[in-house]
Amino acid sequence: MKFSHPLMHDNFTKSDMNVAIKLLKKKNKVLTQSRYVNEFEKKWSKWLGVRYSVFVNSGSSANLLTMTVLKILYGNGEIILPSLTWVSDVNSVIQNNFKPVFVDINPKNLCMSEKEIIKKINKKTLAVFITHAQGFNGLTSKLINYLKRKRILLVEDVCESHGATFNKKKLGTFGKISNFSFYYAHHMSTIEGGMICTNDKKIYQLVRMLRSHGMAREIGDDKIEKMIIKKYPKLSPKFIFLFPAFNFRNNEIGAIIGINQLKSLDKNNTMRKKNFKVFLKYLDAEKYRTDFDITGSCNYAFPLILNKASYKNRDKLESVLKKNKIEFRRGNAGGGNQLRQPYLKSFTKNINLKNFKEVDHIHFFGYYIGNYPTLSVNKIKKICFIINSIKYDPEN
Ligand SMILES: Cc1ncc(COP(=O)(O)O)c(C=O)c1O
Repeated sequence: MKFSHPLMHDNFTKSDMNVAIKLLKKKNKVLTQSRYVNEFEKKWSKWLGVRYSVFVNSGSSANLLTMTVLKILYGNGEIILPSLTWVSDVNSVIQNNFKPVFVDINPKNLCMSEKEIIKKINKKTLAVFITHAQGFNGLTSKLINYLKRKRILLVEDVCESHGATFNKKKLGTFGKISNFSFYYAHHMSTIEGGMICTNDKKIYQLVRMLRSHGMAREIGDDKIEKMIIKKYPKLSPKFIFLFPAFNFRNNEIGAIIGINQLKSLDKNNTMRKKNFKVFLKYLDAEKYRTDFDITGSCNYAFPLILNKASYKNRDKLESVLKKNKIEFRRGNAGGGNQLRQPYLKSFTKNINLKNFKEVDHIHFFGYYIGNYPTLSVNKIKKICFIINSIKYDPEN
């Protein structure tokens, strides 16, 4: 279907196409991971404000590699994570045999509730794997200080929140490791792609190897590589596989598009922030939630959430959105309450959904619609007018 208001619009520009074509037309080109991947990683690290970044083929791969690193370095334990997140965050935890401990959300920012996280921390807690949902910041000083005091790792999933900040510092610089996605619908795109960021050299080296079959030659440090080669004299130096790992590499086309997209990211994010405020100004607060905590937020989407828990109203809203070709997703970030999904059945048997009221409201009555940089104020006003004009039955 052609939408009048799609979730994302025009995020692969003519200039992106030109840099990709220029690369493809080169003589003696290398298209698999090489110098542009390296360059993109360096530029991304500089933009974000971290020492190291590793470009991978998706945000989901970034999640899985991150949890694999925790497994190798720290062993077993419980990982606290949100009930509203993308499926790969949860999968990365269970596929590494960590125990997932789910937390309800804060309705003001759709991220894990600070109070609920602290309630669920115990001696077995290894890490808090926060998702900064749909452009909102989920960190608080209290949470960061509490985790430091208890020596619990913080891992940030920033796949939906490139450029958002906490205390004026970019999200993705607070955790031991952070993850980004460059999938089509996000703040910037490399077609498919993800980034793993850290200030820890050992983690960086480990991630580099895990991205490429666990190979020693990927460590990126000649001195250590020589020591490893010496340790395994019976192995071919170029084929020493240190860990059971993956091939999660990206390629030069993705990297060169990423380098080009990064140039416009801040400008595009400024537009997104402005647009978000226009949505908030014109949307009817009697019908929809507008009381979000937007300090530091940078939202690639607008969360359209009914105030009232009414299935009839929900059906009305969906039919109006469809009729007006406004593209939407129900359940906000990734299909709503993960605890209701079949893949998690064996982990959720003893969970009482009554303790997850906030995420359940989003699951049934929460949506998101597009907030892309080229969206005009007039168009936002028009969308708000359409949505505000729906006559909901006060009894439902
Ligand atoms: C919070 C979050 N984490 C991880 C991912 C996975 O990223 P990708 O789609 O690049 O695999 C997404 C994707 O939308 C996401 O929203």
